[in-house]
Amino acid sequence: MLNLTINGQAIQVPRGTMLLDACQMAGADVPTFCYDPQLHLAGSCRMCVVEVQGRHNLQASCVTPCVDNMVVDTESPATVEARKIILELLLARHNINCHVCEKTGECKLQDYCYRYGVDDSRFAGEKGHFTSEDPNPFIERDYDKCIMCTRCVRACDEITGAQAISVKDRGHHAKISTVFDGKLADSTCVFCGQCIMVCPVGALSSKVSMNKGRAYQCEKVLTTCTYCGTGCTLE
Ligand code: FES
Repeated sequence: MLNLTINGQAIQVPRGTMLLDACQMAGADVPTFCYDPQLHLAGSCRMCVVEVQGRHNLQASCVTPCVDNMVVDTESPATVEARKIILELLLARHNINCHVCEKTGECKLQDYCYRYGVDDSRFAGEKGHFTSEDPNPFIERDYDKCIMCTRCVRACDEITGAQAISVKDRGHHAKISTVFDGKLADSTCVFCGQCIMVCPVGALSSKVSMNKGRAYQCEKVLTTCTYCGTGCTLE
């Protein structure tokens, strides 16, 4: 077992535990975007950074293995400042029409902006100009709300096995796309909806339930989709 001190609390964790899991065991609510316990780690959003005594840089806790005698602060001034900058950078590109967004009330970006008091961005950036029109009847993708956490890409590969989507292009032009940027219906997508379930913001919505109620007004139930007939039971 490894001995750690997290926010002043001494805990023991098994060797091989990631720091984010240890923080959660100690009761710390560390914000995350790209992390999903069902999926392989990406370590790309850096929202989960924490301060570790003796280490020069803030550590992305989801991809940092615990080491014996670590002393960790999950809400130090430097940590909070780093998270605020990440939120501002995301807002610089994000379409902030939260009042008509399907995900409002259940959006991680909205939640963390509220938590850290980030109501605007000091970074004036070019907004995305991606069209979100895809003629499929099930999935709506709003590229101007995508934060490129890649949870949908990993879910499509690791949960569904469809491998229908991936990251296309780089930098400001990066977007989630099908092979050759084609229509979803022409790809290997099986419209299982896993990508919608794992999206932490309003970039992915179900066309079937759009405008029928806010996400927090809907009840999640276990069901078997009828589209592909595999019979997996999903929430
Ligand atoms: Fe750890 Fe994204 S949640 S880097």
